[in-house]
Order: sequence, then structure tokens, then C-alpha cells
Amino acid sequence: MAIIFHESDRTFHLYNDSISYCIAVTKYGHLAGLYFGKKLRDRDGLSHLLEYSGGNQSPGLYEDGVEDPSYSLNEIRQEYPSFGHGDLRQGALVIGQKNGSRITDFRYVSHRIYDGKPRLAGLPAVYTEEDSEAQTLEITLRDELIRTDLILLYSIYNDYPAIARSARIECHNPEGITVLQAASACLDLPDSGYEMLELAGGWARECHMYCNPLRPGIQSVYSRRGNSSSQFNPFLALLRPDTTETRGEALGFSLLYSGNYLAQTDVDYRDVTRVTIGIHPDGFAWPLEEGQNFQTPEAVLVYSDEGLSGMSRAYHRLYSRRLVRGYWRDHERPILLNNWEATYFGITEEKMLNIASKARDLGVDLFVMDDGWFGTRNHDHAGLGDWYVNRDKLPQGVRGLAEKVTALGMKFGLWFEPEMVNEDSELYRAHPDWVLRTPGRSASKTRHQWVLDFSRDDVMENLYQQMSAILRDAPISYVKWDMNRSMSEVYSAAYPPEQQGTVYHRYILNVYALYERLRTEFPHILFESCAGGGARFDAGMLYYAPQGWTSDDTDAMERVSIQYGASVVYPLSSLGAHVSASPNHQLSRVTSIATRAATAYFGTFGYELDPNQLSPEDQAEIREQIRFIKQYRRIIHQGDLYRLENPYENNGEAAWICVSLDRSQAVAAYFRFRQHITAPLSRIRLAGLDPDADYKVSYCRNSTEPVELPFGSVGGDELMQYGLITSDSRSGIHNGIYPDREGDYLARIYLLEKL
Ligand code: GLA
Repeated sequence: MAIIFHESDRTFHLYNDSISYCIAVTKYGHLAGLYFGKKLRDRDGLSHLLEYSGGNQSPGLYEDGVEDPSYSLNEIRQEYPSFGHGDLRQGALVIGQKNGSRITDFRYVSHRIYDGKPRLAGLPAVYTEEDSEAQTLEITLRDELIRTDLILLYSIYNDYPAIARSARIECHNPEGITVLQAASACLDLPDSGYEMLELAGGWARECHMYCNPLRPGIQSVYSRRGNSSSQFNPFLALLRPDTTETRGEALGFSLLYSGNYLAQTDVDYRDVTRVTIGIHPDGFAWPLEEGQNFQTPEAVLVYSDEGLSGMSRAYHRLYSRRLVRGYWRDHERPILLNNWEATYFGITEEKMLNIASKARDLGVDLFVMDDGWFGTRNHDHAGLGDWYVNRDKLPQGVRGLAEKVTALGMKFGLWFEPEMVNEDSELYRAHPDWVLRTPGRSASKTRHQWVLDFSRDDVMENLYQQMSAILRDAPISYVKWDMNRSMSEVYSAAYPPEQQGTVYHRYILNVYALYERLRTEFPHILFESCAGGGARFDAGMLYYAPQGWTSDDTDAMERVSIQYGASVVYPLSSLGAHVSASPNHQLSRVTSIATRAATAYFGTFGYELDPNQLSPEDQAEIREQIRFIKQYRRIIHQGDLYRLENPYENNGEAAWICVSLDRSQAVAAYFRFRQHITAPLSRIRLAGLDPDADYKVSYCRNSTEPVELPFGSVGGDELMQYGLITSDSRSGIHNGIYPDREGDYLARIYLLEKL
């Protein structure tokens, strides 16, 4: 790994063993993007990678009486284009000035290269533990006229094919400026031969994969909901048309931010593709006085030529090792049981203890009490904001219950939704001005609740006091932090008119700040983020909460598609996944407990049901499931994931495999949505195995009990090049190992062990 500055042609080359990222300072001092992709040899003379193609109707440079029509910013691939000075495409930076102008022109001044990677104050960021893990380049550009500096930050790791980027705007102007748009990263690519992959959906249908060829013009994903949203995840990837899961080029753009964002591709008339990602400019205006600065969130760019799975593995490794922090980064996550779908708001101490003690019997480590334990929260019309225990339900308080649960030999966890308030709450009656709302207009409600004005420090402080009092008082090991609605009428009573454009971002900064305070004060607590499922499942959150509730849809088969899509960016160790009751509460679908476990294994495993309501057979299976997952979760959480069959494309089949880093063990899953009569043989080609080794292959009866397939050993190369037949009579399907007619919603788990 190195960052080299070539004086002779003023180029920067950031590289490690797999990737190169190259930048040039142009003859007039602008910053141009040369290259991002597979590693190039370092040498002098990389600046020829920049094309200057004089363009008809494009503004050509004219300054100090010199006209240079061959130099137009509109025709140059730029690193961080700003508005109004020659580049007519959508850019990365817009700065409003006292005289009404938004035109800026930033030129190179200096740079700094150093070991390590800086933390970004108040914001999530990937980090290093030793300075030797990464190097950072800071390039300072200046607009002399408006006396403002732009600092572009680039960090490259030794071990990951990733570049972390962000920007800082420093105001030295006594008149002040207003940042109207500041992307985290912009990348101009020399052609448009890509498809754009996005993770889109809605509530309970998060992270579905959509892939569309680029075409001239803009394609984007975004959120203007205040949170990163279940509609579009803050991420996009560019894939070559022939890229598959295992082969071909994939470029990922992931934003470490949990609020409004815009991620877009813009193909211009010369087929140059511009990708920008950062805070959404709508509703954003950040005034800076002289001496103040604005730091953007960070974006992480990944390049892989090992297909989409290769890109995902880079994100998984980087995010699980150098984004997630604290004790839980390196420890097995507890197997939890959450009472939500078991009781909803109908909490009593007796019910909680009944569920917890049965769960303990079955091997569950952590009991989580969800919504309904506080204030007057008997339904969703009241109580949010009042984070003190409801004594009618829990006469001995949270502490009383938590101590009893702890005495069973379990850990205890608790649900909060700190950013929200019901009209029917003491908090709202005391502080009606703490709600986000526009003066003179009523504020919309969702789920009968309003959004608290978290841009206010006093609101954040109040929630800190309420939450920390509970966390201090009772033995609590886990917190589920929920956020159940999008924001609207975003206006703060605390700020003057010219600061209203800061409210969305200040809100998120204070969410981060409260998380940071709580995780610092209670370092043993495992935080799980949630937003009505995955509406704030983003890389920013992972910095504070190592796992997130992936979706409110707990149906095993729907979850296959949701978790498949979420795994494009996020490590399986971050995807909350629970076995829930059947028929499923969202869809009424009936699936076996084995199928439900098979999906939930590939996340942070748990249950969301009342185990007392289950048959003795299902209870016995749960015991086996917990034993099974404790034995194999290390491979799933720390190994490499290869997605094999895509549920969106394969006529209702899906498959993936997790392989230990030394390739000695693997856990594979195959899902079949619908059974067909006289169906073609189904064969999955595995990946990630050692081609030169032989493996013992077992399938798991009931998703728990390994039964060796009667083939003897199988070559890793055979399994990857020919495949594993999942519907072959020799593999026992018609010999009683599988029932003859397995029906719909089938899941099979396979174990592989190197011989
Ligand atoms: C959200 C969460 C659920 C549950 C409910 C409680 O919908 O995603 O898991 O906690 O809130 O109200």
C-alpha cells in the first residue's frame, strides 16, 4: 500500500495489492479523476489517462486575458466538481455567497500524505487500529475569491480494496458562506458500460435488488425521509453487463450516513459516467462563519474484479472489522428471543417471565422485552416519550424483571424508541415545542406519533437522562433502538430562519451523539438498530450498533430475498434474523420450523415467538437449532459469503455458501419457493472452496442434524465446476432422508468439511 505524488506530472497514485486510485492536478490547478480500478503499476506519466476533449458549446477557459478553448471543465473527468464554473453537469459542491452567487472555482494549493486514518468528529467512519493499516491523502483546494478551502480526504487500506472519501469545507471569509451541497464523493468514470444495482423496496420489503443499464442522464436513489429509508438503501453499485456473482468488475459506493442522501449516476453526452454520493441537497443549507468548517459524511468505494460477491466480501470484511466497534465486534452475538410477536403490547411480568424461562430452557441467551413496557403504552396511541416503567404491567419495575430474568441465567434486553413522541404523553404535554413542525401548520402523524426535534441539544439531553437512568438502574445487556416513521414538516422551534437548513443533519448528528454517549457509558451493552425494520439499516448505524433489525417481515421465504439483498453490502453478523411463529404474522404463510431456522441462521440468530405455544416437537427442534448455530455461526459471521443462486432471477430458488477463511469448512443453504412436478434437476455450483481439496458433504435433516451424503468425498473443484445436485435420488431424497413430497418453502442446509 502506498500513496505516491509524482511531482513531474502532478499525479497522485493510491494503491494496494488489488486496486489503484489516480488523481491529477491539471495545468490550471483543477483536480481531475484519472482512474479507479484494478491495480496499476506505479510509474511516472499516469497523467496521460486524462482525456481533454474540447467540446462544442462547452465553456472554455478564459482568464488573465488568455483563452484556452481546449480546456473546458465540462469535458474533464473531475474529482469534486463545483457549480457554475465551466462544468455544466450535476456536481458535488454548491456554495452560496453573500452577493447571491453560487459560482465557485477551487484550485489545488497543497497536499499532505500520512499514515493512518483520521476519525471524523461526530460522524461514523471506518477506522484503523494501527497507523500502518492505512494511509491518508488530504488535498487542499482553494477558491481565493470567496476565501474558502476545500479539503478532500482519501484513505486507502493495505488489506481491503476500498477507498474511504470525504470532504471538508473551511470558511475563511468574514462575510460567511452557506454550503448548499457537499457530496461525500464524486467519481467520473471514462465510459458508461455499466448496470446500476440498487437495493430498494419499502417497509417489510427492504433491500430488494434492482439492476438497470445506465443510459444518458441521471439515475438515482435517495432519501428525503430524514432517515436513510427502506425505500432505497444508501448504496449503489456499477456492474459490467457480463459481471456475475463470481466474475467481472463491480464498483460499490456505500455511504456511512443515516439521514437524507442522494446517490446518483449521470451519463453525459460523451458517455462519461459521473457517480456522486452524499447528503441530499434538498432541505440542506449549512451556514459557515469565518473560522468554521463543515465535514461531510464518509463514503466507502470498493472495486472488485471478482464479481458482485467479491465486492460484498470486501465490504463485509472492512465493515465487520473496521467499522463496527467495541466488545461485540469480536464476540459471538447472543441468541436472543424477542417478545414482540409473542405478546405485542400485552406485557405483564408474569408473561415475560413465562416466555423467558421457557426460552432459557431451550438454550436462548438473551431475553428482549420490546415495545409496551413504559408510560401508558397499552397501544400505539400513547406513551412514546415517557421512558419510565409502567407499574401496572411491571410492578417491580424493569429492574425487578431484569433481575429475575438474570437469575434464570439469561441476559436481559430492552426496547426504546427515543426519537418519537405521542401526543398522549407527559413529555409532549410538558414540551409541545419539542416536536418537528412548521409554524402555523399541523404536523402529520404516522403510527399516531410525531418526531421529536433531535436537532435540539436539550431534547437529546432529556432522552439521554431518561434512557441512562433505566440502563443504570437495571442489569441490561442489550438495547433495541427503534425509529418508526419518516420525518415530515421538518422545522425546529429552536433555530433562527437561516439555520433551518441544518435541522435534518443536526438531527442525525445528535442521534449519533446520543448513541456515542450511551455506548461509551455502557460499553457492555449490545445495541441493535431498528427503524420499523430496515428503514435505517445503513453503514453509518453500524458504527454505533453492530447489528440491525433487517426487516419487520419475519416470513422465512420473504427474508431470503431481503437478506440476500442486504448481504450485498452488510455482513451477515449485522443482519438481525429471527424464527417467528407459523402462520407468519405478516403474510400468514405456513413454513416448517426447519425452514424458518435455515433463513435465520444467516444473520444474528434469534426467535420472535412464544415458545410456550409451540408443540413439544418444535420446542425440541429449537433446542437443536441453538446447539447447531452455536457450533457453526463462526463460519457464517466470520467466514466469506458467496451468493450462488439469486432469488430474484431463478424461478424461486436461492442459494448461498459461507466458507471459513481457511476454506476448511463451509455452511451452504438452498431454498426452493415452489415445488414443481417432474422438475428439472436442480444443481448449485458452489464457490469459495479449495479446488485441490476433497470435502465431506452432509445435508442437515431438520436444518440441524448432519447426515453425510452417500457419495464419499467430493472434490472442491467438482463442487464448484459441476455443482451439488440438490434433487438427486442418490442424495437420499427418495430414500426416506427427505420425505417424498417436500412441498413448497423448502430449505436445506449443507455442511462441508475438508478432508
Ligand atoms: C417496529 C419494530 C418491531 C417492533 C415494533 C414495536 O415496527 O421494527 O420489531 O419493535 O416497532 O412497536
